[in-house]
Amino acid sequence: MKTLELRSDTFTRPTPGMLQAMMAAPVGDDVFGEDPTVNQLEERLAAYFGKEAAMFCASGTMANQIGIQVHIRQGDEVICEREAHVYIYEGGGIAAFGGASIRPIAGQRGQLTATEILANISDPHNVHLPISRLVCLENTANRGGGSCYSIENIREIRQVCDQHQLALHLDGARLFNAMVAGNHTPEALAASFDTLSVCLSKGLGAPVGSVLLGSRDHIRLARRIRKRMGGGWRQAGILAAAGLYALDNHIERLAEDHQRARALATIMRAVAGVKAVEEPETNIVLLELEASLTPATFCASLAAKQILCLPFGPQKVRMITHLDFTEQDLNDLQERLR
Ligand SMILES: Cc1ncc(COP(=O)(O)O)c(C=O)c1O
Repeated sequence: MKTLELRSDTFTRPTPGMLQAMMAAPVGDDVFGEDPTVNQLEERLAAYFGKEAAMFCASGTMANQIGIQVHIRQGDEVICEREAHVYIYEGGGIAAFGGASIRPIAGQRGQLTATEILANISDPHNVHLPISRLVCLENTANRGGGSCYSIENIREIRQVCDQHQLALHLDGARLFNAMVAGNHTPEALAASFDTLSVCLSKGLGAPVGSVLLGSRDHIRLARRIRKRMGGGWRQAGILAAAGLYALDNHIERLAEDHQRARALATIMRAVAGVKAVEEPETNIVLLELEASLTPATFCASLAAKQILCLPFGPQKVRMITHLDFTEQDLNDLQERLR
């Protein structure tokens, strides 16, 4: 019986076409700026999102944490949603690397509004307070069930940032999902941000890599920080080739993952012990369980049928659709749960 992997979209394996592209990639030493495939990936993504420059990184965490360090100084404050990945899942990097504190705000479905941000900016004239320096948003919001920001909301947040001299960073680990779901252009989604990270190894199915985007000055500084953190790499073109292949072949198909997530939500609503399932906007399906069940017990009972999902909070379970979860897999899942 095939294991149906729904814990995360990071479990995908490179396709044969992707592996071929990786093997054929021309490479050089990227620390010297001489890997042609890395350079191609960076130039292509910068142009795609309408930014001046880009830097290929080993992970989304690295791209976010470098992007954040570009903006902050010790003692500053970073404003983000209280379940933001940069806050709860990046090993305390904002404190450890940037020496900044965090102002976590309870938003809705992982998102913040301009009004909520405005209410949490510290008075820069009050010496008791840290200096609010940076706002971080997440699109799509992972713990928000893959929810998408509206462009209008992002623009309003940008206005508040401008009025209060705050920088704005985006954790775009699943920005391609937001782009396809909302039928947005990449420029429209990126325009308001000073820096943003986008991930190639989640929905897009590459084995490794995220890219930090921003102005030429921001990326110049980011390269210094990446080197300092040991993230300068050599023939990384082998990995960049997988990213280029994913950009060519795996963006439009994200609509299939979203459609399967909606179908999965319908199936899961009928499963015993499931109290509610939010209607998915993208590829993330969040289940709320009846009080009588723990996420661990629920996930174990599905695992016995070779269906893997992730405990995601006191009564929550997460399932994510992706490149390696096919229509046949969806049908099999329905059969196994019947
Ligand atoms: C919203 C979000 N941001 C950032 C990351 C970090 O990516 P990585 O695992 O490549 O460090 C993840 C990983 O799942 C994520 O879901």
